[in-house]
Amino acid sequence: ENHTDVSGGTSTSPSSSLGTSDRDRLLIFDTTLRDGEQCPGASMTFEEKLQVAEVLDDMGVDIIEAGFPIASQGDFESVREIARRAERAVIAGLSRAQFNDIDRCAEAVRAARRPRIHTFISTSPIHMKHKLQMEPEAVLQAVVASVKRARNHVDDVEWSAEDGTRTEFEFLCRCVEAAIGAGATTINIPDTVGYSTPDEYKNLFIRVREAVPNSDKAVFSVHCHDDLGMAEANSLAGVAGGARQIECAVNGIGERAGNAALEEIVMAIKTRNDVLPYTIGVDTTMLMRASKLVAAVASFPVQYNKAIVGRNAFAHESGIHQDGMLKHTQTYEIMTPDSVGVKSTSLVMGKHSGRHAFGEKLKELGYDLGDNAFQDAFKRFKDLADRKKHVYDEDIEALIDEEIGNAHE
Ligand code: KIV
Ligand code: ZN
Repeated sequence: ENHTDVSGGTSTSPSSSLGTSDRDRLLIFDTTLRDGEQCPGASMTFEEKLQVAEVLDDMGVDIIEAGFPIASQGDFESVREIARRAERAVIAGLSRAQFNDIDRCAEAVRAARRPRIHTFISTSPIHMKHKLQMEPEAVLQAVVASVKRARNHVDDVEWSAEDGTRTEFEFLCRCVEAAIGAGATTINIPDTVGYSTPDEYKNLFIRVREAVPNSDKAVFSVHCHDDLGMAEANSLAGVAGGARQIECAVNGIGERAGNAALEEIVMAIKTRNDVLPYTIGVDTTMLMRASKLVAAVASFPVQYNKAIVGRNAFAHESGIHQDGMLKHTQTYEIMTPDSVGVKSTSLVMGKHSGRHAFGEKLKELGYDLGDNAFQDAFKRFKDLADRKKHVYDEDIEALIDEEIGNAHE
């Protein structure tokens, strides 16, 4: 069965696919080093960025957005160095619609085996009026000019309609058509402010792709923010609407509430490949390593209950769950810890733990108690767990040693 296969599967090679070859290939576009770094407190040094890029490249991410070269000399240099070093991934740099911005970005990504320029401009009424202070027709002209400028430098050009989900539909379609006409090979419609809902986002892709005559000439892309906690659901809905590139960041870091989390997107596709029938190129066993690296270098801790990479993601404390897990791991786990690079499930001993888990823990610690001593020790363990929030192995050892000592008196 597909579910069992993927949850226990070993995706060791980045080129390994998750399903049969007729399944559509999704491109994973990682923006940890650009949008991710834009969130308060997450800035990374030059060396740290190179380290993150190396892991992403090894992991099989298709496109790495390495930075925003015009933003600072440091950003320019790190994008240029990542471009030089990347072995497989496309290396993208971000630029606004201005020519000097685009030219600087081109200079930074030039050395990559596969360079991409990602250029964007806002298309929503509120952004055009208040942020850009430009008329829609001038924005449309800028779309064409910026994409053409980028195409003079590289063949791989992505164009984004910033605040795409709050853009007037007809105008969005005109911009998309113009960008493709000017040579854009990827069209990104971001949910910049995390405003969309899954149905709405899916329909937007369906409608735009239907309405724009040259839409089959470009790959459509999703880029979702998590302001309402729907970034991953929206991303997958956009894919259901025909998008084939997903923009995301490790640990979901990014502006405000963050971007869609790479590890959640990837594991959703892997675990529910029965209903999300796509292939991806990411080696999922490297997810934990990438998560830990990004959390450390960006000084951005991962919440305990974060899906996939949180410290509790594979931890079980309640007696009923621990008992089930000991009988069969699929009772309470839909994916294996090793499939994401976590060594093992952890049964956390606490007041919710039952006899079954307590017995296993004693075995693990090397104790073999008789029935009476076991019942006694279990009762004392429960009393302790009621008083103490965390019961460590040492606490249990102390309790058992005392128990054994009592028995010998
Ligand atoms: O959220 C957004 O709109 C962006 C664009 C620059 C792609 O990050
Ligand atoms: Zn963004």
